[in-house]
Amino acid sequence: MALWRDKPLVDVSSDYLRRMVEPFAEHRLQVIERRFELELQTGLQESALPDFQALALAHPLRERMWSLLVLGLFRCGRQAEALEAYSTVRQRLDVELGVEPGRALRQAHQVVLAGDDDGWRVECQLPVDIGDFINRDEELNRLLSLSCADKSVPVVTVSGPPGMGKSALVIRAAHRLVDEFPDGQWFLRLNGASAKPRSGAELLAELLRTAGVPASELPHGIEERVALLRSRLSGRKVLVVLDDAGSVDQVAPLLPGRPGSSVLVSSRSELADLSVLYGGQRLALRPLPSRHSRDLVARIAGQSRFTADEHAFSELTDLCAGLPLALRIAAANLVSRPTLRVSRYTEELRTGDRLAKLKTPGDTGLAVRAAFDASFATLSKEEQRAFGLLGVIPGMDFSAHGIVVTSGTRPSAMS
Ligand SMILES: Nc1ncnc2c1ncn2[C@@H]1O[C@H](COP(=O)(O)OP(=O)(O)O)[C@@H](O)[C@H]1O
Ligand SMILES: [Mg+2]
Repeated sequence: MALWRDKPLVDVSSDYLRRMVEPFAEHRLQVIERRFELELQTGLQESALPDFQALALAHPLRERMWSLLVLGLFRCGRQAEALEAYSTVRQRLDVELGVEPGRALRQAHQVVLAGDDDGWRVECQLPVDIGDFINRDEELNRLLSLSCADKSVPVVTVSGPPGMGKSALVIRAAHRLVDEFPDGQWFLRLNGASAKPRSGAELLAELLRTAGVPASELPHGIEERVALLRSRLSGRKVLVVLDDAGSVDQVAPLLPGRPGSSVLVSSRSELADLSVLYGGQRLALRPLPSRHSRDLVARIAGQSRFTADEHAFSELTDLCAGLPLALRIAAANLVSRPTLRVSRYTEELRTGDRLAKLKTPGDTGLAVRAAFDASFATLSKEEQRAFGLLGVIPGMDFSAHGIVVTSGTRPSAMS
């Protein structure tokens, strides 16, 4: 295209030859129009607009070109000029040919009038940010700065065991980031820790629906869905929250391609390959410090319960090991048994099956055991066995060597 110079054969006197090359000139214009159309779809119209505008002025009756120009001006935020361009071409069609604008032009005009061009709606799908969120200031600040980092597409993963507060933290961060991502804040559950993680095809379909793609235009192939999602996101600022991701393979197809958007992921695993392959950043969530654990339970169960027996209260929060889910359940149990002494409840938890007891009455899946069961079910038989045996090692920690010795696993199977 760059090699094309002016009108072909302009200095050749043969009409016959000039007629021969006319189709080439037309073909070139079609290619330019198509290219601009693709630039519009991918959000790259800004730099191409001046040349395209000059070309349209040189072809005042070429409707397709003018309809693209109207959309291009509109997409560059030049709404008034878009409307002016429409009225210019409309007048000229009327005066010179006595016809009304065709369908493409009328549609472009409608788009400008409606202030909406491709079905895009700003969606805020974030679940509620819990009101009694405790601590985590440091982690929150880190998430905020990483997500706004001036890099291509920030991808930040928060990892940790079930009930550690990954989703709650990621959701809180996302609420704080709403103003930075004015084109939408999406939230998608990947069910990665369950026995049935959601498939790429299904997740892509959901995201494309959110991106305003009508069901009838949803491509069948995965690759096409990935490409369409990237082009819909291009030129836009969207925060994509992927909750409970199971693997890098589950996340990778959902990542935006162009800068502007940002991705927050929560996952039970560290998804190390996200860093390796996509420069993602990681934050491993640690248990809540004791002081904050006590604050959390006291806030829910009541300060008076806490002051009545501080010692038992501390022991109770220690038994919950800084796990927000366990702490909330313990607090809820205290609330539902107002006459129960804290020391009594602590005793119950200390002796007996703690996991089984950390559930609320009528609980159907919120219990700590349920959260761990889902992860346990996805382990291989060998891993399940090693996990069970490790439970008998006293102390908080164990080394890789400890696993080999306890479970009789081959060192090579350790990874
Ligand atoms: N910092 C916190 N303060 C108060 N409650 C919290 C905090 N973090 C998590 N929670 C609560 O603990 C429970 C488990 O948190 P969640 O984010 O679902 O864990 P995860 O996603 O790691 O499994 C939820 O009820 C959540 O509201
Ligand atoms: Mg979660």
